[in-house]
Amino acid sequence: MLNIPLHASSGGRVVAWSLGVAVLSVTWGAPAAAQSPGDAPAVTFARDIAPIFQSNCQQCHRPGSIGPMSLTTYQEVRPWARSIKQRVVTGEMPPYRYDRDIGIQELKDDLRLSLSEIETIARWVDDGAPPGDPADLPPPLSFPDLSEWAYADEFGPPDLVIRTKPYTLAADGSDVWWRPIVPTGLTEDRCLKAVSVKPSPEGRAAAHHANSQVLGFDEESGEWVQVERLSEYALGKVGEIVPEDACRLLPADSMVSWDVHYYPTGEVIENDVVEMGVWLYPEGHQEQVQYQQDLKLYSLLMKGSELELPPHGTAMTQGFHSFETPVRIDSFQPHGHFRLVGKTLELFHPKTGELEMVSSVSNWTNDWHTSHIYAEDAAPLVPAGSVLVITGYYDNTAGNPQNPDPNQWVGPGSRTADEMSHAWIAVTHLDDEGYERLVAERESRQQTDNEE
Ligand code: HEC
Repeated sequence: MLNIPLHASSGGRVVAWSLGVAVLSVTWGAPAAAQSPGDAPAVTFARDIAPIFQSNCQQCHRPGSIGPMSLTTYQEVRPWARSIKQRVVTGEMPPYRYDRDIGIQELKDDLRLSLSEIETIARWVDDGAPPGDPADLPPPLSFPDLSEWAYADEFGPPDLVIRTKPYTLAADGSDVWWRPIVPTGLTEDRCLKAVSVKPSPEGRAAAHHANSQVLGFDEESGEWVQVERLSEYALGKVGEIVPEDACRLLPADSMVSWDVHYYPTGEVIENDVVEMGVWLYPEGHQEQVQYQQDLKLYSLLMKGSELELPPHGTAMTQGFHSFETPVRIDSFQPHGHFRLVGKTLELFHPKTGELEMVSSVSNWTNDWHTSHIYAEDAAPLVPAGSVLVITGYYDNTAGNPQNPDPNQWVGPGSRTADEMSHAWIAVTHLDDEGYERLVAERESRQQTDNEE
């Protein structure tokens, strides 16, 4: 067994093997005869490692994708063995920061490796990264064309493609935010089924984040105002799917306000365009489903509270939100910058006094923003009056490896050097009858599972 540190800090060495007798005898050069018959066979690239890399690494680590190197063949992988072990054992790769054994573990598009996979990779590297027998290699994966849409296999081509206005990115300089506003092109109210953002092949390495909001026209003020969040794209993120029993409304004649975050890559990128594919539920879905889903920002900075980090200091923020009707929580995405180190989502039930842990991310990094989408039967069903308790932990000391400068005072703001404290949460708003039905349906599914 390998001890995986919960609060993985980069550069942390993990050496705490609980060594089996067999491994000891090999390490210390005892005679081969001393090895027990229960010896684990050597871990090889061909048989043990390649299948893990195919399912958890190659979508990003292949030619043309977002990873800095390809990990599809032994020749490509071998020079990276040390770095792979380090990144995998600290939980930095695959990039999906979400605590094990705390709160809900059933998540869609979960990239995490199992503990035994991590152990296998570490053992393979420690054993000198042997290639093994080429006959054991799994057939290479054929990858979809990177210019193809995510979800195209499931849902076909998108119903709408919404594009940014073209932007020419200089070869050097600091980060750039590109914020064009464009029409959705939708002429009637429709329910969103899925959304996925796709950078251009040339811009893929430079477009780190792309957020989008839906704007609706407010008759009263005569202005375009934010209606809700449409999507967030971050490196490696596929997209979002709205459950079939809910409607997330995309109103007629709305606009999309983009916010694309570019980092110059050393090459000029001309007229770059980021695209968003939008899949819609059929007309009439809104009337059929009863319940509305929205994706909103939930602040952890309640009235009168402040986010202020003195040099070498730490801080905690907390937000409380409750609903007058029952709800289902469909996804949770913490938000913060360099000093945020962790965020949790809990539910407080005033009737029973119980505080329930839903999700915990204790090794946050600003490099990756993931929306953790709960699996259908795991999404919390929350009675009216229960309270979402969201807690953020900030570390402005030198002990935080992500901290660019512990001597700074840090206050709230949207620049990366400032801090923020909120979470994006997708909520389906139910009524009493819907809540009871969903609870009953889930219980009966669980019962069937148990009987099988
Ligand atoms: C969602 C996309 C994605 C997945 C999945 C992913 N990686 Fe990465 N990986 C990246 C990106 C982007 C970088 C460069 C940025 C960084 O270092 O965080 C990276 C960096 C790395 C590095 C450091 C390279 C260096 O320059 O030192 C290693 C090692 C690595 N990945 C290994 C893996 C392994 C092994 C897996 C699977 C078990 C994996 N990655 C899965 C996207 C991904």
